[in-house]
Amino acid sequence: MPTAPRLKPLITRSQVRRKVREIAHQISRDFHGEPVHLVGVLKGASIFLSDLVREVDLEVSVDFMAVASYGRATNSSGQVKLIKDLDSSIEGRNVILVEDILDTGLTLDYLRRILEERRPKTLRVAVLLDKPSRRLVENVRGDYVGFQIPNQFVVGYGLDFAERYRNLKDICVLTPPPLLDERGHPRVKP
Ligand code: IMP
Ligand code: MG
Repeated sequence: MPTAPRLKPLITRSQVRRKVREIAHQISRDFHGEPVHLVGVLKGASIFLSDLVREVDLEVSVDFMAVASYGRATNSSGQVKLIKDLDSSIEGRNVILVEDILDTGLTLDYLRRILEERRPKTLRVAVLLDKPSRRLVENVRGDYVGFQIPNQFVVGYGLDFAERYRNLKDICVLTPPPLLDERGHPRVKP
């Protein structure tokens, strides 16, 4: 009988809370006196964004996008598809793209390109987690980065394995690790 996966806490809820506050304060300082528009990437970033937005001491608006990633991660074109676009224009606005995790970088590279074309006043990237060892797109980085983590599959605080575990308060490592496809995403379909 296969044993159920174990969840090993990697980053506790209190570490997350402290870091989210730090990032929010940094954003509040950087954009002092100006409104910011937070763009969350569904679904993983929804919890990070919800906590972040309440700690930002500025005029704030919020929008969401959704993407699907597919195929082999051997080149950076055609691997990401837009599933849900923004509701409103970002032209002339201070946009902060909010993502749960920066992994290969393909998703953020794609999103940054399409948002840049829409001529925001500024475009920054906030990611809670960063796995630098997995990077395939070199020039993608977060302007605000919560934690750099090793190459381990993590769940919780919005991050899922086959749609499970998004509600965990701590960020945990799944052991044994799930089987991943060439893209580093779980093979199991929800
Ligand atoms: P990238 O395009 O390879 O950077 O992938 C980013 C997306 O992969 C994230 O938005 C997550 O949905 C997913 N992802 C990458 N690593 C993990 C992980 O460790 N746990 C859960 N999801 C992950
Ligand atoms: Mg995901």
